[in-house]
Amino acid sequence: MKSKKDSLYKISTDRNRLDLALIHDFLANSYWAKGIPRKIVERAIKNSLCFGAYRDGKQVGFARVISDFATIAYLADVFVVPEHRGRGVSKLIMRAVTEHTDLQGLRRIVLVTKDAHGLYAQFGFKPLANPENFMTIHKPDIYRDGKVG
Ligand SMILES: CC(C)(COP(=O)(O)OP(=O)(O)OC[C@H]1O[C@@H](n2cnc3c(N)ncnc32)[C@H](O)[C@@H]1OP(=O)(O)O)[C@@H](O)C(=O)NCCC(=O)NCCS
Repeated sequence: MKSKKDSLYKISTDRNRLDLALIHDFLANSYWAKGIPRKIVERAIKNSLCFGAYRDGKQVGFARVISDFATIAYLADVFVVPEHRGRGVSKLIMRAVTEHTDLQGLRRIVLVTKDAHGLYAQFGFKPLANPENFMTIHKPDIYRDGKVG
């Protein structure tokens, strides 16, 4: 059952409602996408299923999902602006993500987090059982050397 507090916040997947300036400002200062150019954020949003959290019509949170909508999805860029943290907003976003019609029946959903394991664990995520089986190409400084964007 939704609490009274939850009802102040609304989740929407309408891309047209997203506050691109807010999203870019947050991500460009985040630990995982530091310096990301705005046009890269715009391209990412255009090609993702995006979830915005709103309070009184103003955006306060975000997440996006990259998926084939059949077998696999990657959850990325989850954040809530500092003034609205600790009020269950990220859990509302996570509920919207995990219950979304187009994300049912997937074989795998992947995410990467430095310290929010306790949030995602509440929605069924577990640490990799076989991390040695996963491989990645990772360029954490890609936006800092000025070559992308
Ligand atoms: C992480 C973040 C999205 C949480 O948003 P929030 O709306 O404040 O969180 P909620 O109020 O919905 O509560 C989250 C729950 O997960 C838990 N949690 C676990 N790890 C957490 C973390 N690193 N930060 C915040 N909560 C965390 C909280 O204790 C809380 O548990 P509860 O259900 O027992 O109350 C927000 O702190 C944020 O934007 N942080 C900066 C960006 C970031 O680190 N994003 C995650 C990238 S993977």
